[in-house]
Amino acid sequence: MTKLMIEDRCILNGTVEISCAKNAILPIIAAALLTEEKCTLKDVPALDDVEVMEAVVRSTGAHAVREGQNQLIIQAESITDYEATYELIRKMRASFLIMGPMLARVGKVRISLPGGCAIGTRPIDLHLKGFSTMGANITLGHGYIEAYAERLKGDSVYLDFPSVGATENIMMAACLAEGLTVIENAAEEPEIVDLASFLNKMGGNVKGAGTDTIRIEGVKALKGTTHTAIPDRIEAGTFMIAAAATGGDVTLQSVVPEHLKPVTAKLKEMGAEITESEKSIRVRANERLNPIDIKTMPYPGFPTDMQSQMMTAMCVAKGTSIATETVFENRFMHINELKLMGAKIKVDGRSAIIEGCEKLSGARVKATDLRAGAALAIAGLCAEGATEISDVYHIDRGYITIEKKLQKLGAPIKRIEE
Ligand code: UD1
Repeated sequence: MTKLMIEDRCILNGTVEISCAKNAILPIIAAALLTEEKCTLKDVPALDDVEVMEAVVRSTGAHAVREGQNQLIIQAESITDYEATYELIRKMRASFLIMGPMLARVGKVRISLPGGCAIGTRPIDLHLKGFSTMGANITLGHGYIEAYAERLKGDSVYLDFPSVGATENIMMAACLAEGLTVIENAAEEPEIVDLASFLNKMGGNVKGAGTDTIRIEGVKALKGTTHTAIPDRIEAGTFMIAAAATGGDVTLQSVVPEHLKPVTAKLKEMGAEITESEKSIRVRANERLNPIDIKTMPYPGFPTDMQSQMMTAMCVAKGTSIATETVFENRFMHINELKLMGAKIKVDGRSAIIEGCEKLSGARVKATDLRAGAALAIAGLCAEGATEISDVYHIDRGYITIEKKLQKLGAPIKRIEE
């Protein structure tokens, strides 16, 4: 079993390089199935989730090979298998993102239902509603969804909630559909804009990404292209919070400050000093942070993927904070682990009331999901004595060598393989 050991509390100092965004890369890998030509993705971190998506794409008969450390080449010259098995979907829910590209490119797909996951039930009704509005014939049985469509037809799709995955899946499918598709109440996340820019480089015609209405005019075929995904705003936000919570001074390189506005605004409210340049952000804090309230919302609201890390900062703030989770119904599993470290947190429905204390105390804790794991790593950096985090595979899904990046900032952290 792999563990992360943090010896003692510390103050983070230095510079950290932020990687390309996992949540931008995953749909882009799926989108490469839309063409028989070669797509080249640059600066792709070898994250566990990215490797699962590579395997999903390969399972269709496409090639996905790494060149050097960080270049990923995908070519779906011919698609020979139409099934995405439970084994693959179970490993990562985002595997479901191949449904749109497969339907659009080859007109059929059989894909396992994703089922529940650690942070809630996470249904896929909005994805399916989009495909059936576009003329797909969808049947469900034995835990699988089967969908057929000779050629999808553009239509107007209204999403009841601005789901990131549904917006991406429908947007990809619409690129090869006949006529115009309009997605209303679409998600506005930067990863949607990045996917649209990849699709447009492939010869697609996507307009309005980044707003709540996206218009996609279908084309007959797409071509290969080369792309570098946007920086990971969640990895960046995690380091920003770690810097502020430890009272450190950290500069993040290769970021888009605009994408981090919701986090920057809250950290400023907590008393951190933040300076931005075109591609970097410096976070400084030299005293205990002020308490704040956050409510997670779709972009440009405060990201649900930063809620647990921000809660750790609230645990050591000088007063009482409230964190309200509105996006996922079961995203408070880190609370029990934080309590093991001396955090004072009460849950009331979808809100957590956090009474800040001067310091946490090191303990043995378990990463319950990806971002919960990151929250515990930050807690370990703020805790007196040793912290041991197990189930590190959750963290490795979305953070590339987190311990190495933290070591470079002076953290007494190491990975232990047992
Ligand atoms: C993506 C991100 C994830 C992030 C989330 C919200 C990726 C690979 N993952 O996940 O890190 O936490 O956005 O920012 O990009 N919903 C439905 N029906 C659907 C789809 C979603 O009711 O068909 C609900 C979900 O249950 C959830 C909410 O919509 O309550 C948001 O989910 P969604 O935006 O779809 O998240 P993902 O795309 O799965």
